[in-house]
Amino acid sequence: MSKARPKAKGDRPHRRFAFSNARFQLHKKPVVAPVRPRPIVAIDGPAGAGKSSIARRLAQALEFILVDTGAIYRAVALAALRDGIAWSDAAGLSALTEELVRDQTLVFRPVSTPPPSSRAASRSQVVAEPRPAEGAGGVRVYLREEDVSDAIRTPEIALGASSVSVHPGVRAALLELQRAAGREGGVVLEGRDIGTVVFPDAEVKFFLTAKPEVRARRRFEELAAKGDTSTFDETLADVHRRDAQDTQRAVAPLRRAEGAILVDSSEMTMDEAVTFMFDAVARTLRALSASQT
Ligand code: DC
Repeated sequence: MSKARPKAKGDRPHRRFAFSNARFQLHKKPVVAPVRPRPIVAIDGPAGAGKSSIARRLAQALEFILVDTGAIYRAVALAALRDGIAWSDAAGLSALTEELVRDQTLVFRPVSTPPPSSRAASRSQVVAEPRPAEGAGGVRVYLREEDVSDAIRTPEIALGASSVSVHPGVRAALLELQRAAGREGGVVLEGRDIGTVVFPDAEVKFFLTAKPEVRARRRFEELAAKGDTSTFDETLADVHRRDAQDTQRAVAPLRRAEGAILVDSSEMTMDEAVTFMFDAVARTLRALSASQT
C-alpha cells in the first residue's frame, strides 16, 4: 500500500472535486455513475481500526452522508437485553428485530433534531435514516422513543451487538433498511458486510484494519477517557473475541470484499488515512468516468 502524503494546512481534500446532487463531476466533466446518480463508498473492517471517525471525516470531505450500520446492531442488542431476550436466542431476536423494523421504533436522528414520536415517524425516520455528515455530534439513536445513543456505546453492548449479528434472521431484517439508506448514493456506509453483502456493487470499497494490539490500545484509551476501568489486557481480549465472532460467523462474516482497497491504519494518523482514502475515491471515480467515455 502506498503511504499517504500528509496534507498542507488549508489544503482541504473536498475542495479538489465537486460532486453535484444528480451527477458527480471530476475535473468539471459531468459523468453519470454506472448504477446510481451518485456513488456509494463502503467501508468494512474490524472494531478499533478507526472506522467510525475516519468514515465521518471522509463523508465530510466528500460531502456525502454517513450511515453507521454498527449502531443498528448495537441498538438491537440493547433492546434484547431490556426485553430479557438472550443474545443467543435466534428466534426471539429475529422476532424482536422484525418488530422494531415494522413498528419503526428504532430511529436514528441527526443530533440537532428533537426525538421523534414513533407513531408519527415517517418511513424516512426509521432506523436506516442516514445522518448528515456535517452533524458535529453525529447521530442520536432512539429506541422506543428513548435516546440510547450513549447506552449503546459500552463494551457490554459492543459484544452483544457482535453476538446478535450472527443470527441470520436479525441480519435479514436489517438488510433492507441499510439498502434503503444507501440506495440513492452519495453515501459512506461503514460496517462489516457493506462491500460483501449490503452493497457488493458499491463504486468504492475499503477494508480498513489495524493490528489487534493497536486497535486494543486505541479502544483502551477511548474507554479510559470515559472513565471505564477495563485494563488493556481485558480490552485486547475483547478485541480478539469480537474479531473471532465477526470473522467466523456463518452469515456475512467480516472479510475483505472483492475489489476492496486495503487500508492498514496501524502506522497512520487519522489525517493520513482520510487523505489516502479520499484520493483513492477520487482515483476510482476518475477511472470509472474514463471507462464510460
Ligand atoms: O462497528 P460496531 O463496533 O459499532 O459494530 C458492533 C457489532 O455489530 C460488530 O461487532 C458486528 C456487528 N455488525 C455487523 O455484523 N455488520 C455490520 N454491517 C455492522 C456491525
